Amino acid sequence: MSGVGKARARANIALAKYWGKADVELNLPAVPSISMTLDPLLTETTVELRAGLSADEFALNGAAAAGGELKRAIELLDRVRAEAGSKLRARVESRNHFPTASGLASSASGFAALAAAARKAAGLPFDPKKTSALARQSSASAARSVLGGYVELPAGAPGDASLAAHELAPPDHWALCIVVAVTAEGRKAVGSTDGMTHTRQTSPYYEAWIRSAPGLADEVRAGLLSRDLPRVGRAMEQSTLAMHACALAADPGLLYFQPATLAAFAKVRELRTEGLEVYATMDAGPHVKALCQAADAALVSRALSGVPGVLRTLLAAPGPGVELLDEPA
Ligand code: DP6
Repeated sequence: MSGVGKARARANIALAKYWGKADVELNLPAVPSISMTLDPLLTETTVELRAGLSADEFALNGAAAAGGELKRAIELLDRVRAEAGSKLRARVESRNHFPTASGLASSASGFAALAAAARKAAGLPFDPKKTSALARQSSASAARSVLGGYVELPAGAPGDASLAAHELAPPDHWALCIVVAVTAEGRKAVGSTDGMTHTRQTSPYYEAWIRSAPGLADEVRAGLLSRDLPRVGRAMEQSTLAMHACALAADPGLLYFQPATLAAFAKVRELRTEGLEVYATMDAGPHVKALCQAADAALVSRALSGVPGVLRTLLAAPGPGVELLDEPA
């Protein structure tokens, strides 16, 4: 049966990092991760399943998607078709409403929105767990964007196809802010999926990372639930530095930092010595994301904007999980 689904999802930032897979086939993370869903970094996606199409079509920001991006989207659609018993091909249109060239990854919001919209188009009922598990198979960080506020994706046991993220606390639990210091334009050199495979295969520190990550996630979770920013912040910085140390020790080493990355990181620590509660994290790219109380965000943003090599900053606050939207007329 033909059908249409439209959904909106937001990006997220991992406070406790996911890096490494327990099961490559099912895309199960080897470590637990904890994130904040970010408003207003939005993706909106419409999926139309209809008769007469001979192949899936996928337009991303108005241009036809190809290669790995298209392949991952088709695999997601195939899973939805298998569950719904449909053979119809899809027309997918997806747009990122991120601030221009924000330098932020959109795959988490993209696959979360695609999962929700595709399930709706296929006539499957809205189910956060199934939507999160579906998004996870495409990109594990996308499983977290299905939920709002503060979110955890546990580590997966090999073979556990149903692993999904869950909400730890709603968006209004705590008025924190992420200040993104954008340090470069364009795409990153080595994507997360390839980066973590390479790290697992060649880094002598991989096992140590896998052993230490759950304890850091415990600290982040406890700090979040008790609204203890120094506790969250210290564990968050250790999580990001341990992940990068593990990647740096791969052969050849993965170096995601630029000079401005380290300068912005140093600025965050300097602000702390001046009494501001602010902590830094980085993903598989050169940007620095600073975590602070919402009331301190303007100050942090001004300070990071003045760091040589920081091109611009943008602010994000805890936002809701995936939303189904009214279908276009
Ligand atoms: C550094 O979710 O992009 O941002 O599951 O292979 O698609 P795949 O990886 P992805 O990895 C995100 C890695 C990270 C940390 C995080 O978001 O937890």
